[in-house]
Amino acid sequence: MTDTNTALQARAARRSLPESPFLAAARGERPTRVPVWFMRQAGRSLPEYRALRAGTKMLSACFDPDLVCEITMQPVRRHGVDAAILFSDIVVPLVAAGVDLDIVAGTGPVVAEPIRTADAVAALPTLAAEQVAPVADAVRLLTKELGETALIGFAGAPFTLASYLVEGGPSRNHERTKALMHGEPQTWHALLDRLADIALTFLRAQLAAGVDAVQLFDSWAGALSLRDYREFVLPHSTKVLRGLADAGVPRIHFGVGTGHLLGAMREAGADVVGVDWRTPLDEAAERIAAAPGEYAAGPVVQGNLDPAVLFAGQDVVRAEVDRILAEGRAAQGHVFNLGHGVLPETDPDMITRVVEMVHGG
Ligand code: CP3
Repeated sequence: MTDTNTALQARAARRSLPESPFLAAARGERPTRVPVWFMRQAGRSLPEYRALRAGTKMLSACFDPDLVCEITMQPVRRHGVDAAILFSDIVVPLVAAGVDLDIVAGTGPVVAEPIRTADAVAALPTLAAEQVAPVADAVRLLTKELGETALIGFAGAPFTLASYLVEGGPSRNHERTKALMHGEPQTWHALLDRLADIALTFLRAQLAAGVDAVQLFDSWAGALSLRDYREFVLPHSTKVLRGLADAGVPRIHFGVGTGHLLGAMREAGADVVGVDWRTPLDEAAERIAAAPGEYAAGPVVQGNLDPAVLFAGQDVVRAEVDRILAEGRAAQGHVFNLGHGVLPETDPDMITRVVEMVHGG
């Protein structure tokens, strides 16, 4: 399929959601209520999730369209959030392409043969849209189930995917990743270029099936200096985000500990920049507004409640929600979220309370 055909198909598949406060805020508007959703809102914090997942491996679940649909719907029904995020994982397109890796409970992705040489990079398979057909099927099921609630598709950004592939699993310091990046820049760029293509194919398949927005997760990019981010990562994330410009959907770009990278993450082609709790939203908006380039709207921020604050009791949560809503007014648009994913031990009733608070209750 050509890119133009995919773009046309994506437009045809998309629902019109004129009442979606999430899409309005992502466009830089101020809807009657601040929209809210949570990263990792589907998952272990919900007893109904744990029940449904019992006996099914994480990656098997990700390739079962009915299960993906049901798990994605659970937090929408329970919390009344303004957006659903597709239940999947950043490593799903790698597995679909044929990379030998597993998601180990309590650890995360573990790669059988880490990629650390030019030969290994050359042997990394490409992804064909058909290989993620079950994900596209799940998206189609969801667009029927969701009504007026927006559906966010996602992919892992090239750097964060590379970190798992090079380290072989989760890493605190990303030392092998950085060694490859600085020691063999040509191999590094070849790897990130391939990962950008995989992310693009994965996101285009989701868009063709009807997702209303996309989020690029560069969760671990905050480990880099701005200088290294610009040289070794930005061109590849730009290829992904700008490569989706023709789809006409909001593109969210998120990372953890990225206060120093927010302007560069905007430059990659982000309509919305995700911010963690370390940077106040008003300061984030200023940094994003200063990024050079032409944009459809002023700075739109997503965030940024510390997920750990949900353990501190209602009064603390209320004060933090109010502070974040006030700071978010400095941006042109604000989508309320956590600064990173819901922690597994979180009381789901507290999450529902946050939705009510953000919606004005
Ligand atoms: O609700 C949602 O946000 C959608 C689901 C989602 C998952 N993974 C499900 C999942 C999303 C958006 C992701 C993305 C993802 N996966 C990221 C980027 C987001 C982030 O948190 O920074 C990253 C870095 C990964 C890699 C990964 N996969 C990790 C670190 C883990 C956790 C390991 C663990 O067990 O604690 C996973 C596994 C994973 N992905 C789970 C879920 C619900 C837990 C597995 C389970 O429930 O058995």
